[in-house]
Amino acid sequence: MRVYQQTLAKAGAALMLASLSLPTAMAACSRSALLGTVDQFLEGLEIGSASPLQNIASNFEYIENNKTINIVSGILGNVLIVDHNRTIIDLVACATYTEVISPRSVKPFVLGAQIRHRATDNAVFLIDTVVSTTNDWLFNATQTLQYVLGEHWGPIEPAKRDSRETIQAAADAYLDMWSNKSAIAAVPWGSPCVRLEGSVYTGKGLPDDVCTPGIPTNNTQAPNSARRYVIDETVGSVNVINVFEHLENAADSHEFRLEGGKLRYVHTITVADSKKSYPGLGPAPPPSAPDRISIRCALDTSSVGFGIVTTKTPSSKPAVIPSRATSTGSFAVRAKDLTPRSETNKAGSPVSPSPPPAVRVRYECCTVLLITGVLGSAN
Ligand SMILES: *[C@@H]1O[C@H](CO)[C@@H](O)[C@H](O)[C@H]1NC(C)=O
Ligand SMILES: *[C@@H]1O[C@H](CO)[C@@H](O)[C@H](O)[C@H]1NC(C)=O
Ligand SMILES: *[C@@H]1O[C@H](CO)[C@@H](O)[C@H](O)[C@H]1NC(C)=O
Ligand SMILES: *[C@@H]1O[C@H](CO)[C@@H](O)[C@H](O)[C@H]1NC(C)=O
Ligand SMILES: *[C@@H]1O[C@H](CO)[C@@H](O)[C@H](O)[C@H]1NC(C)=O
Repeated sequence: MRVYQQTLAKAGAALMLASLSLPTAMAACSRSALLGTVDQFLEGLEIGSASPLQNIASNFEYIENNKTINIVSGILGNVLIVDHNRTIIDLVACATYTEVISPRSVKPFVLGAQIRHRATDNAVFLIDTVVSTTNDWLFNATQTLQYVLGEHWGPIEPAKRDSRETIQAAADAYLDMWSNKSAIAAVPWGSPCVRLEGSVYTGKGLPDDVCTPGIPTNNTQAPNSARRYVIDETVGSVNVINVFEHLENAADSHEFRLEGGKLRYVHTITVADSKKSYPGLGPAPPPSAPDRISIRCALDTSSVGFGIVTTKTPSSKPAVIPSRATSTGSFAVRAKDLTPRSETNKAGSPVSPSPPPAVRVRYECCTVLLITGVLGSAN
């Protein structure tokens, strides 16, 4: 309990310090600053904390699935094993977009995160995410990862790059298809072209693969609105986070890659209920329930020196977690061996609704090491 409070307090202090820090001497959008923040965000995902984030603007906003929330109550409240991340960089908008696939975490996730910086001092003023998990539309992170690993989103030769305008126009035409009859003809369909719709792939790995299976046939639906763009000409890509108004205002992320002016890849993340049927969209996969919990501790354990960490659970036998005894350790335990403890939030009131055991384990594991360095003394 104490530990949880300290963890939160630490994260809060870090954010507060960052917001109070004076603007640096930098006066232009910096690629390395942008990538630094992406690394901090990924580290945050791996340890389940916002504390790695630096240089946060005082008007910082966090959006998850089209809702403004406190950053600590979003995806950073989970511990993820990041199996895949890919970032595009927009130095004009001073923003990045990162695709993250995490099939092996306690709860699997596929998410997209746009991070926006002030061009004057590179301070982060917005993190805008679309976060999908089990039961979301066509969700299967394992399958998504398999397809993504077979694709090539690398740099495009400078002479062959498309302009920002061409890249954005392709995305807009595509996203207009639901609400504009002329848009289909305006999409620069390529061949081969493959679309990864959640975890469902239109491609077969053939040179004549096309992206058109399942595209909207009804072009008089409510539009895809509130579009936020991140464009990277060096890789021919644009990400658009938007609202699928025709799909009960689902939060959506569409990322496109163009090669030679033509659409080559489309990736979608859509936060809509997979149990519902939506016209024009394919069948949903059955949900999965993981029975293993994966934990990653990013705290420095070197001064502790224990090879074994015992997490105390209130009512059942302790779960034994073998530590790799390095500064970042990864552990796996069976979910049924762990029991949630009651904990309190920063203000001392009970956390409600109770997070799943997976979330608890983070505190029990990492904080035993952080606070006391003594086996099993987190209580
Ligand atoms: C969510 O979507 C609606 C509808 O497009 C939009 O008006 C609203 O501003 C969005 N909220 C956020 C926080 O982006
Ligand atoms: C993100 O991807 C980069 C490039 O592939 C890799 O070097 C890095 O280790 C990844 N980060 C995480 C947290 O997995
Ligand atoms: C997810 O995809 C993997 C790989 O195709 C498959 O083995 C697994 O059964 C799928 N899981 C669900 C819940 O459909
Ligand atoms: C419909 O799409 C076409 C082709 O992209 C475009 O020229 C036109 O302006 C669009 N109409 C509206 C109302 O957005
Ligand atoms: C197309 O979508 C609109 C808006 O949802 C709906 O009113 C209309 O019936 C649909 N048309 C067809 C042919 O499905």
